[in-house]
Amino acid sequence: MKILSVVGARPQFVKLAPVADAIAAAGHEHVIVHTGQHYDPLLSDVFFDDLGIPAPDVHLGVGSGGHGQQTGAILAALDDVLLAHAPDWVLVYGDTNSTLAAAIAAVKLHLPLAHLEAGLRSFNRAMPEEHNRVLTDHAADLLLAPTEVALGHLREEGLGERTVVVGDVMTDVLYRTRGTAEPEPGAEGAIVATIHRAENTDDPVRLASIVSELQRLGRPVLLLVHPRLRAKADAAGIELGAGALEPRDPLAYPALVATVAASQGVVTDSGGLQKEAFLLRVPCTTVRTETEWTETVDLGWNLLVEPGGIAAAASRPRPAATDATPYGTGDAAERTVAALVRAR
Ligand code: UD1
Repeated sequence: MKILSVVGARPQFVKLAPVADAIAAAGHEHVIVHTGQHYDPLLSDVFFDDLGIPAPDVHLGVGSGGHGQQTGAILAALDDVLLAHAPDWVLVYGDTNSTLAAAIAAVKLHLPLAHLEAGLRSFNRAMPEEHNRVLTDHAADLLLAPTEVALGHLREEGLGERTVVVGDVMTDVLYRTRGTAEPEPGAEGAIVATIHRAENTDDPVRLASIVSELQRLGRPVLLLVHPRLRAKADAAGIELGAGALEPRDPLAYPALVATVAASQGVVTDSGGLQKEAFLLRVPCTTVRTETEWTETVDLGWNLLVEPGGIAAAASRPRPAATDATPYGTGDAAERTVAALVRAR
């Protein structure tokens, strides 16, 4: 069987790592296409190097741009690639513009499409990711859901028949990577923060209030600065390096896991980091009005806050211990490959 994976943004490289291993272990052919949505070495190359992912077979090099421009450039470039490789499955990951573009390209060429991390919903139609994931789910022939909650959403939308719950491949990669790197200096007892979502970065007033609250937290805050945050803060004249805030470059994945594990807590708007914090049993504060990963909130390890509520949430007492495994036990990639084989 020939599987063609399309990835383009940082969280997709993390998800690709265990899937690439599982595809190789099962003896299938795997073609990796990198769209080039993320091109900074710290957002791309280090993930391939550290996680042992084979170099992409094809690199589209599309780079940054508006949503239409970026999505359209990937879509146009994929036609020839998909036709040349004629895979048994096109496998897309998550909810980025790369995901949606590859989904449309595949279905237009009548190539079977599988969506990994299907069924997540924020129900926030202002998020570009919400449209990307809903449209991709409805285009796909096989929906690989990470959780029972995701399966429930897909059933509500009439997609239950095409869904298989495989668990979350981010659990696989985290379990495999934990303990393999040193934390960032200063991580012990600090807060680890990331802010990169458009709804937080692109409104200068909202961004300024988040940054100033982080600067006033009563313990050091290691802020791992995504290029989007850097660009928006510079444009708005917001200084990141004052008070408790210590801006750092984005971390490679093994170092991120080690740093979060050593920290006192996480403040973020990233989807992946909410789960990574939960899996490492580090309390998380999420600067969003909703989350797709509701299990982290229901189990008490994640709090959703608006700017103004960060300080109180980040200093709350440690939540009650839990041994719940809503994101699986680390075999999601194998189950993904088995589901692809079964559905052909
Ligand atoms: C994208 C995803 C988001 C995901 C995130 C992970 C979409 C709609 N969004 O957001 O869901 O959580 O990746 O990081 O697909 N930039 C660089 N270098 C890069 C990449 C981006 O400087 O390598 C800058 C550019 O100024 C660019 C901006 O960041 O315009 C935004 O990049 P983009 O890939 O469009 O979205 P992300 O914010 O990274």
